[in-house]
Formats: sequence, structure tokens, C-alpha cells
Amino acid sequence: MADCAAGNDWQPLCAEADIDNDQFHEFQLGEEPCFLFRRRGRLFAYRNQCPHLGIPLNWMPERFLDPDNCFLHCANHGALFTPESGDCIAGPCQGDSLTSVPLRITDGTIEARL
Ligand code: FES
Repeated sequence: MADCAAGNDWQPLCAEADIDNDQFHEFQLGEEPCFLFRRRGRLFAYRNQCPHLGIPLNWMPERFLDPDNCFLHCANHGALFTPESGDCIAGPCQGDSLTSVPLRITDGTIEARL
């Protein structure tokens, strides 16, 4: 897991070419655990904080998908989230959403900020 400094500055995460479809990369933005992944060619990032109890979604490193590889999954109580929007579509926090993390690509490097 990469450790990045706090603040509003863009933080480099990894090379864009290093993230394949349905591959996840966990990182820290200041004190905030976050994760990045690619879905159908597009990049997304969210804070790793379930809206149900405010705790991380995953129990295993880099594992965020449900068994069918369709939705983001909270391992704690089974909430399911649409990967492209972060909206919870089933589970105890249905109607809430994950908090997205802005991304940009600079010279082939993915950068994020809170
Ligand atoms: S903490 Fe995620 S569903 Fe309960």
C-alpha cells in the first residue's frame, strides 16, 4: 500500500499501465484509506469506508468485488455498490454511496486527491 502525504495536492499513485481491468490498488491519502481500480477500461477511486459503519470494505488486500465480479462488495455485512457510481444498491446502507476520489493522469501516472 502506498503512503501519500495529506493535503489538497495531487498525489502520484502508480503508472496507468499497471492497472488492468478489475485490478485494485489500495493507497492512503493522508489518513484516509482509499482504493483505485479499472472497470471496462475506465479508472475509479473511492475512500475505503463503507457508509454503513464507516469501516473498510475489504478483509483481504485488494479484494473488493462480489463473487460474481459484478459489484463492489462490503465484506462486513454484504452491501453491494455499483462500481461506476459507488451507489449502494443492496444491503444495510442501500441508497447511500461510497465517497469518490478525484483522479487525473499526468505523464502516464495516476494521481489522486481528496
Ligand atoms: S459495514 Fe459495510 S455493510 Fe455493514
